[in-house]
Amino acid sequence: MTDDESSYEIEISLVVNGASVKRRVSARQHLADFLREDLSLTGTHLGCEHGVCGACTVRVDGRVVRGCLMLAAQADGSTVETIEGLSDSGALAELQSAFLERNAAQCGFCTAGMLLTASEFLAGGRRASRQEIRDVLSGNMCRCTGYQAIVDAVEAVMIKRLDR
Ligand code: FES
Ligand code: FES
Repeated sequence: MTDDESSYEIEISLVVNGASVKRRVSARQHLADFLREDLSLTGTHLGCEHGVCGACTVRVDGRVVRGCLMLAAQADGSTVETIEGLSDSGALAELQSAFLERNAAQCGFCTAGMLLTASEFLAGGRRASRQEIRDVLSGNMCRCTGYQAIVDAVEAVMIKRLDR
């Protein structure tokens, strides 16, 4: 890549947590870096930056994506939701309470990604075994909890919703 190509900028317009945003970004900037550095939305974390750990998970047009694998330029015209917006709207309140009750968040580094991945699964409205819940969450790594408490929390919300 030449110097000219690496400094190429593009103007993007998108909606982030309900607010319209227009910015000039480097063509090489990842969505997670854009959210953290340009918009100060630091609840989206960066771990591996290679699509492995899930710490950078955000929602784009309603689907969870890896913020470290998507360019900010690719989000042009999209609706992006981060942990900040979803927490403020109460969209994750039930799941967050379940995490709190079961101590499923320790250092919290993985928690935003876990919550977003779990909420997408729960929105499907199906009953799953604990092993299936583990599989759903397998793209989100946690260094602290051993996953048991996280699976407990997700399972509890799933059962509560199905029993309503
Ligand atoms: S920082 Fe994106 S998957 Fe690890
Ligand atoms: S709570 Fe620390 S990485 Fe998951």
